[in-house]
Amino acid sequence: MRIDIITVAPELLESPFNHSMIKRAIDKGLAEVHLQDLRNYGLGNYRQIDDYQYGGGAGMVLMIEPIATCIEKLLAEREYDEVIYMTPDAKTLTQPVSNALSLKKQILILTGHYKGVDQRIRDKYITMEISIGDYVLTGGELAAAVLCDSVIRLIPEVLGDETSALTDSFQDNLLSPPVYTRPAIFQGMKVPDILLSGNFPKIETWRSEKALERTQQLRPDLLDE
Ligand code: ADE
Repeated sequence: MRIDIITVAPELLESPFNHSMIKRAIDKGLAEVHLQDLRNYGLGNYRQIDDYQYGGGAGMVLMIEPIATCIEKLLAEREYDEVIYMTPDAKTLTQPVSNALSLKKQILILTGHYKGVDQRIRDKYITMEISIGDYVLTGGELAAAVLCDSVIRLIPEVLGDETSALTDSFQDNLLSPPVYTRPAIFQGMKVPDILLSGNFPKIETWRSEKALERTQQLRPDLLDE
């Protein structure tokens, strides 16, 4: 999978793609991430990329020309399955969205800053808008990193043990059950006996019950879906 990310702060995105599982996916050739610095497409000597908003109001807006030039250049080089805009005023990312995106070959992600991008960019180029939650970040870079992490780990062969992505929280609309590792007793706190029993069908039943219990307590909304 190839992912291009248009950003005004490429340095914010360097670290997330240079660590752990994402780095392994990139090293194995399963994913490529290309950062496109919007500043390179800025206007005039100062490489201007933002301007005041029409109608007044606080906050700058990313201008249409630099983004359009950058997107047009990328679209001329390859076809993208989705052109995604990261923004808090969109539907929230869910596991099914990440699952679907993990099957795509080429994705272009536009990250916003300040008050966001000129609406005409969204109207003309964007095929999908994604928020990572009901809160506002300084820019879309960290949101894009979250999206890429959740998608790249689902690409077949990225996780060593394929079942581990399938048993994540949310894959079946349930939160994960509690997990334990050694020692069996720590400061008097014991691991549940069932997990030490070796009775795997019973352990599976226990895990399902705990997952349901946790979901009912913390995220009953998931059970309505
Ligand atoms: N940019 C700023 N806040 C965001 C959010 N919550 N999700 C996606 N992009 C954003």
